[in-house]
Amino acid sequence: MASHISRSALRTTAQFARSRAIPQSSFASQHVSPVFRRFLATPTEQPRLRLGTEAPNFSAKTTQGDIDFHQWLGGSWAILFSHPADFTPVCTTELGAFARMRGEFEKRNVKMIGLSANDLNSHGKWIADINELSDTTLSFPIIADADRKVAWLYDMVTEEDMKKLDTAFTIRAVFIIDPAKKLRLTMLYPASVGRNSREVLRVIDSLQLGDKKGVTTPIDWQVGDDVIVPPSVSTEDAKKKFGEVREVKPYLRYTKV
Ligand code: BEZ
Repeated sequence: MASHISRSALRTTAQFARSRAIPQSSFASQHVSPVFRRFLATPTEQPRLRLGTEAPNFSAKTTQGDIDFHQWLGGSWAILFSHPADFTPVCTTELGAFARMRGEFEKRNVKMIGLSANDLNSHGKWIADINELSDTTLSFPIIADADRKVAWLYDMVTEEDMKKLDTAFTIRAVFIIDPAKKLRLTMLYPASVGRNSREVLRVIDSLQLGDKKGVTTPIDWQVGDDVIVPPSVSTEDAKKKFGEVREVKPYLRYTKV
């Protein structure tokens, strides 16, 4: 039975790898040892990253030492974000901005961790440039994902680059992970578009407020603006909980928190 599972798991893995054209030298073929494969109940497949699923775990080399991702997360909120490559212009502005916002993320109990397919030596030299250009001290770890293991796991590549994963650049992905290690929000930007660091903070504020108070937030919401009473809460209960409720339509009710 065990050998039957092993053979079918291997066959499915190979079919999958061929269908996504993952090069044979990629981590999927290199890093899952035959011994480990024998005990896998399911084949090594790229996880489907839905909101609410557990952030896949991995081990990695970072500019602050080797990590087990779940251990590193601990019970914190976190953002895992990738950039295409070190020593590139847009990425340099982005990492500088995130480094300068360290205090804002710390206030919200959010850890930051970056990633690209460059090695540790490259990251180290580039961080010196970021610090110089953004007048900051970048203090979060950056993963050296030279074998694209995490990029594959979190699908941080374009369709085209998935066909040549070994040389792929990572896209600009942001994963917001909550203290239960659940994926709560993802943003995927192409290499040509720098992200909005304030938007990352804004969505963290919305998620944390929603978890604490049981409210939702409207379009372009900012901290201090009115929030929305979700349809699952009656107006009577909302008044007891929040005080004044402004009913625009029976299904659109605003309140203050
Ligand atoms: C940039 O950071 O400027 C960049 C990196 C890779 C591709 C395109 C732009």
